[in-house]
Amino acid sequence: MTPDDGSFRVAFERVAAWIEDYYRSPGRYPVLSRSRPGELIAALPGEAPADGEPFDRIFADFERLIVPGITHWNHPRFFAYFAISAAQVTVLAEALAAALDVNAMLWRTSPAATELEDVTLGWLRIMLGLPDDFHGIVYDTASIGGFTALAAAREALGLDIRARGMAGRSDLPALRVYVTEHTHSHIEKGAIALGIGRENVVTVAVDDAFAMRPEALARAIDDDRAAGYRPMCAVATVGTTSTTSTDPVATIRELTRERGVWLHVDAAYGGPAAILPEFRWLLDGAHGADSIVVNPHKWLFVPVDLSVLYVRDPELLRRTFSLASDVLVTYESGVHNYMDYGLQLGRRFRALKLWFALRTYGVRGMQERLRNHIALAQELAGWIEAEPGWNVVAPHPLSVVCFRYEPSAVDGSGDALNLAIMDAVNATGEVFLSSTRLHDRLVLRIAIGNERTTRDDVRLAWDLLRREAAARTLAPPG
Ligand SMILES: Cc1ncc(COP(=O)(O)O)c(C=O)c1O
Repeated sequence: MTPDDGSFRVAFERVAAWIEDYYRSPGRYPVLSRSRPGELIAALPGEAPADGEPFDRIFADFERLIVPGITHWNHPRFFAYFAISAAQVTVLAEALAAALDVNAMLWRTSPAATELEDVTLGWLRIMLGLPDDFHGIVYDTASIGGFTALAAAREALGLDIRARGMAGRSDLPALRVYVTEHTHSHIEKGAIALGIGRENVVTVAVDDAFAMRPEALARAIDDDRAAGYRPMCAVATVGTTSTTSTDPVATIRELTRERGVWLHVDAAYGGPAAILPEFRWLLDGAHGADSIVVNPHKWLFVPVDLSVLYVRDPELLRRTFSLASDVLVTYESGVHNYMDYGLQLGRRFRALKLWFALRTYGVRGMQERLRNHIALAQELAGWIEAEPGWNVVAPHPLSVVCFRYEPSAVDGSGDALNLAIMDAVNATGEVFLSSTRLHDRLVLRIAIGNERTTRDDVRLAWDLLRREAAARTLAPPG
């Protein structure tokens, strides 16, 4: 395929037409793929083709084999996990980034990639109301941003771990990280990867609204210090994964500062809501944090993957990670070489899609979309509360509602009943929702985050839930 014979353009236009058609009605597909385990593997050859194949054949297989194995995150009734959607213009940005095939490891390897990252993350910082002494860096995911924050927190202890490592050191106390049962698991994974160990990830109690109890955190830190541990980092979440609860970040900041403990704020999902004046408070307490993660690929209309880590002290990140080989040494001054600020050397040109999205929607366009999602979730919560036998089981300040069917006449376990209802609803192909556990009970969860989702979509999900519940409920005796 070359530009010279026009075949590139023909193929590109075909793909453009396919995408246009897809975007016209992603709801035509079953939202949850009906593919069975191993189905695609069985359908494809075990070895790469010896000779190149024509685009037509590849594209035909894309439509025939790949699309049926897709779960459609673009479907307006994708309500599982955290529902997402990207501004369509970002597909064009991704195509351009792929065409340029930039590796933004150094400033000089594409000055525009590095500087656009600085500009767009500056815009986003202002949108979020964060102070201007935060410096943002793009990573692929919040998991990597969280890992990077933990690594910086470890470096900040001044224990010379970068040079000497951790193993076999009698001078090194066990380092401690503080979370709650609702903190996303990437923090624990980060602690595993950094040699801190799962046993040193301390679970602090939560209150009735699933938010960290600050007095329990203070006690855990003080007890640990008295017992010879080294408290390293507390993680506060703005918008937890299960229920979107928010930890009392300001109080946590105060008590961690007094105790010399790093505060990392995981605002991967909830942070974007701070672009709304009425939700600005969500990040107020985070203004004094050492690091904050926000995921534009969750709720700011940028496609996976693009996560932002804001840090107070970017120099500390450099001290943690900078390690250039002779080949990569550069001599420009006053520039950021972002390979020095994290684990990875090679970096995609991710800022381009954020720039396209922010310029296309504007702040107001993003705000309108978030407000709409939050309003739909509130309306759904109202329907659930008003329906006999159904209960909303957690506060729902943002765009997620957790609920459970709890009729009086249940034969057997309520968990099994709710699971059966969810499975039946998902099997229709019309709707995809997921579950979580609260107080050791299975709870259904609807997350609204797709810009195509309408009130009718939410209503259809609710109607299906009620239909499947009614089909499984025993008639009351007598
Ligand atoms: C609160 C929270 N933090 C972090 C993550 C991890 O996000 P990522 O997939 O960007 O690593 C998630 C994922 O849903 C999340 O809900």
